[in-house]
Amino acid sequence: MNLILLGPPGAGKGTQAKRIVEKYGIPQISTGDMLRDAVAKGTELGKKAKEYMDKGELVPDEVVIGIVKERLMQPDCENGFILDGFPRTINQAEALDDILDEMNRKIDAVINIAVPDEEILKRIVYRRICKECGAVYNLIYSPPKVDGKCDKCGGDLYQRDDDKEETVKERLRVYREQTAPLIDYYSRKGSLQNVDGTKNIEEVWSQIVALLEGIK
Ligand code: AP5
Ligand code: ZN
Repeated sequence: MNLILLGPPGAGKGTQAKRIVEKYGIPQISTGDMLRDAVAKGTELGKKAKEYMDKGELVPDEVVIGIVKERLMQPDCENGFILDGFPRTINQAEALDDILDEMNRKIDAVINIAVPDEEILKRIVYRRICKECGAVYNLIYSPPKVDGKCDKCGGDLYQRDDDKEETVKERLRVYREQTAPLIDYYSRKGSLQNVDGTKNIEEVWSQIVALLEGIK
């Protein structure tokens, strides 16, 4: 299965992508995680990306398209993949179409997780992530059992640099302007599947499993 997870910042894309990885055994390709990894390692790409990410703006298309293309060519993507956080502009979506054409592959479903702005702010501001394994928590909706520690591996939890309220507001503005038009783009192609992202994590997961079982 070749999947795209679409939705505003904090909609739950990463949370649901990790469940899809576990159940269906296909890799998660998160451009946000890949860019944060480059920032943490202090590579040239990371230094360039950080300037945009800290402001809540998008990293230039050509940079992101390049890293996704390289990732999709890896052997573990042969049986499918989940794109999480890509594409994010019409330009990126068109580039993805070209890459997949070259590879003789196509997208099976674009899962759009819809959540209103006021809910998003709460989700992001209370988000905490494990430094070691990347597990995602929320201090209100899915808190860790021990304060500041990951349930799965005991690693320390941290808050993302771009999860401050002001930056989140800018990310939402950028989403509306540059990413929301993709809903129409994929709807016209007939691949869009809407999921109600306001439900709790389990209920959102049930909706996703129901639609994935239908296309498997
Ligand atoms: P990225 O890392 O992709 O961030 P994002 O799209 O803003 O999405 P988030 O990771 O914030 O949210 P999510 O939907 O994964 O939610 P999560 O599952 O964590 O991008 C960061 C930056 O990188 C961008 O701003 C940009 O600069 C750059 N970038 C990345 N991709 C790019 C691209 N393609 N082009 C250009 N630039 C790019 O959940 C959020 C919280 O809510 C968690 O605490 C979770 O526990 C909780 N939660 C999840 N589901 C539920 C639920 N159903 N009910 C209650 N709580 C829930
Ligand atoms: Zn962990």
